[in-house]
Order: sequence, then C-alpha cells, then structure tokens
Amino acid sequence: MSGSEGTDLPRVLVVGSANLDFVTRLSHLPAPGETVLGESYTTAPGGKGANQAVACARAGGAVAFCGALGTDPFAEPLLASLRESGVQDWTVRASTPTGAAFISVSEAGENCIAVASGANGTLRPEQLPPLTGVGWLVLQLEIPLETVQAAAQAAREAGAQVVLNAAPARTLPPELLRLVDVLIVNEGELRTLIGATDLRAGVRQAQASGPRTVVVTLGERGCLALSGDDWTELPALPVPVRDTTGAGDTFVGVLVAALSRGEPFAAALRWAVAGSALACTREGAQPAMPGREEIQANLG
Ligand code: RIB
Repeated sequence: MSGSEGTDLPRVLVVGSANLDFVTRLSHLPAPGETVLGESYTTAPGGKGANQAVACARAGGAVAFCGALGTDPFAEPLLASLRESGVQDWTVRASTPTGAAFISVSEAGENCIAVASGANGTLRPEQLPPLTGVGWLVLQLEIPLETVQAAAQAAREAGAQVVLNAAPARTLPPELLRLVDVLIVNEGELRTLIGATDLRAGVRQAQASGPRTVVVTLGERGCLALSGDDWTELPALPVPVRDTTGAGDTFVGVLVAALSRGEPFAAALRWAVAGSALACTREGAQPAMPGREEIQANLG
C-alpha cells in the first residue's frame, strides 16, 4: 500500500483500474480484419477507475484511488496524474505489468478501445483499504468482479453509498446489483445488463434489480435518470467534439464530486453533463478533464 496507509480515507473512494493509454488518430475506426494507417500516437494516463478519481478530484471532490499498478515505468505517469490532480494514493504494486489501453480515435471523435488488464487483474479483496470515513464508493468493471463485490459489500456494511459504473459492458450477478445505490451505464451497457430494448423499461428493470438511482448516459442526446420515482432527462451541452475517450468517466467522477458535497441529485446531474461535454472537446482521457471552475462556468 502507498504512503497513505494509516490515515483516514477522504469522503470518496474509487476502486478500479489504471491504464497507460496509447492513442492513435485515424480517418475511421478499423473494421475486423482491416488495417488503417495513422500518423503517430500519444500516451496519456487512463483507466476507468483512475479516470473517475481524477475527474472527481478536479471537480472539487475529496477522493482516494485504490488500484493495482506494475513496477514498470508505465506506472509513473499514472501516479503523477493522480498526484497532480489531488487524488490520495492507495495503489498497490503487482509483479504483473501496469495495465495498458490501445485506443483508436476517428475524425468524428468516436473511439474503439482494447485493454490489456495487466496489474488491474491482480487487485484482490484483501488489498482494499478499510472504509473509515468513506461516504461514497465508486466502482467499475475493469478489475476482478470478486474485488468489486467485496468492496461493495464492505461499503454497504460501513454505511457508504455504492456507485457502480457497469463498464465495460457485461452481465452481473444479482447479489452485486442488490448492493448498488447508484448505477451508471450507457445504452449498450444497459442492454447487456438487462436485455431490454426500450430505454425507460430497461431503466425501470435495472432499478428493480437493486439500485435506487439509475443513470443512463446517452452521448450527444444527454442523459436519462430515474431516482426513486423521479425521472430526469437532460440534453447534452452542444460542444465541438474532438475525442470522446473518458467522457463517461468524467460524467461519473463529476457526478460523485457534486453528490458528495451535498448537491441535490438533479443539480449534480447538470454538473456531470457539463463536465463530460467539456472532456469531449480535448484529446485523451485524464488530460481532457475539466476543473471545477470551468464546469461551473458551463452549467447548462
Ligand atoms: O473509459 C476510457 C478508458 O477506458 C480509457 O482511459 C482506457 O484506459 C480504458 O480503461
């Protein structure tokens, strides 16, 4: 465990993945079997877990990140980004290489991502920190499911709210969904999780599986949420899209930053919508994430 061991955790804890992203811009995304030539590539800190922690911190959240990194040089830029964004470091080191993601971005700003999990796949339940002081636990699905389940269980027992971003898309055991308070998915992830084709019916079905609040991000159409009996639908902010990588993670991180400082749910959603739109206007995952003042200035 990092140098933070022994201190209480901040209000928000993100448990998840950290990857070094290798990003190539292409005229279009390759079809299966196709080779597309790009000019160059850049590297940037990424991984859904670390991205959400960084987005939360930049939006003003008090947040720690727990994940597994290798001992190779790829870990350094990931730790630097967490540090520079003000995220408390609860990472552990594995003998497996740091996770890496290979990302193609089209001229339209759409992406296609292949992840080599590496160290992320080694994070074990017994490596999780004690949840003293944590009010919000944020999870995604790029680490072992057993660890996600154990973290959610520990948060439930500690009285913390469990936020699950069910990405990448997969089906989940009912016992995990029962522990979730806020479920955040895109349309594809909702379909995989629930199997429904009608959006609102799918949201209701997801809510019936456990989470009181279900949020579906809809890309350029904004988002739809059901919290208790209340539906909220927000349009996206119209922005010039450069790269959508990490936009969903920004949405999650900014939403939790706002909720953890006591914003009402509908207001927190507006923060998330503005934050994720701003993240689409710049390249990369963490390099593109906005700060609190920029988001505030762009609230719809
Ligand atoms: O959600 C975007 C992230 O997915 C990228 O940063 C990449 O690392 C993958 O985890």
